Amino acid sequence: MIKIAPSILSANAANLMEDIKKVGPVDFLHIDVMDGQFVPNIGYGINTVKDLSKSTDIKLDCHLMIDQPEHYVDQFADAGADVIGVHLESTPHIARAIQMIKAKGVKAEVVINPATPLSMLEELLPEVDQVLVMSVNPGFGGQKFLTSTLDKISRLSAIRSEYGLEFDIEVDGGISDQNIKAVYDAGVDIAVAGSYVFDADNPEHQVELLKDLTK
Ligand code: DX5
Ligand code: ZN
Repeated sequence: MIKIAPSILSANAANLMEDIKKVGPVDFLHIDVMDGQFVPNIGYGINTVKDLSKSTDIKLDCHLMIDQPEHYVDQFADAGADVIGVHLESTPHIARAIQMIKAKGVKAEVVINPATPLSMLEELLPEVDQVLVMSVNPGFGGQKFLTSTLDKISRLSAIRSEYGLEFDIEVDGGISDQNIKAVYDAGVDIAVAGSYVFDADNPEHQVELLKDLTK
């Protein structure tokens, strides 16, 4: 069954823990970190991760949408991140960023934007624990799922099998009951869902709906 990572970008930041309790049992919480440079928005930061790690047992999946993330990965690891995702497009030193995350004993994830081809990942795939395929252009919740992502995920899943690699595949952006089965069938292990979960009256029910559709 697919794992769901609710994205707290769509939660009420003034009532974060109350909103988080509403999602019920989930595998990860997805935390969007944005610097106003790499993406045209500003998001959560190191303190949020630090405080959440003390307040919940849910694993913290930190998606760094920031330039040169290698300058901050140690701080996110020390704050309690369980997974740190760094964008391939955000630094010329992506391999170093991945090495630094792993050196901290944290799961290392490379993230690619919709326009970035899989071929750019070739040298990196044996080094990472997860690959996050963006299914919207990063920066905002509530955008429409880009259907070209399905083919990209299928090809990534085929590469994983062909080379006997073990990274997990995550997808982020526009996930709903309309596409969860398709991304799961294409090879996704973990789906991020923001507005679909938190914009509803009963977030836990939304998570269950997504999981049920992949049973
Ligand atoms: C977008 C963020 C996503 C966002 C997803 O840049 O990376 O994690 O919260 O939100 P939805 O699920 O509403 O597209
Ligand atoms: Zn995200």
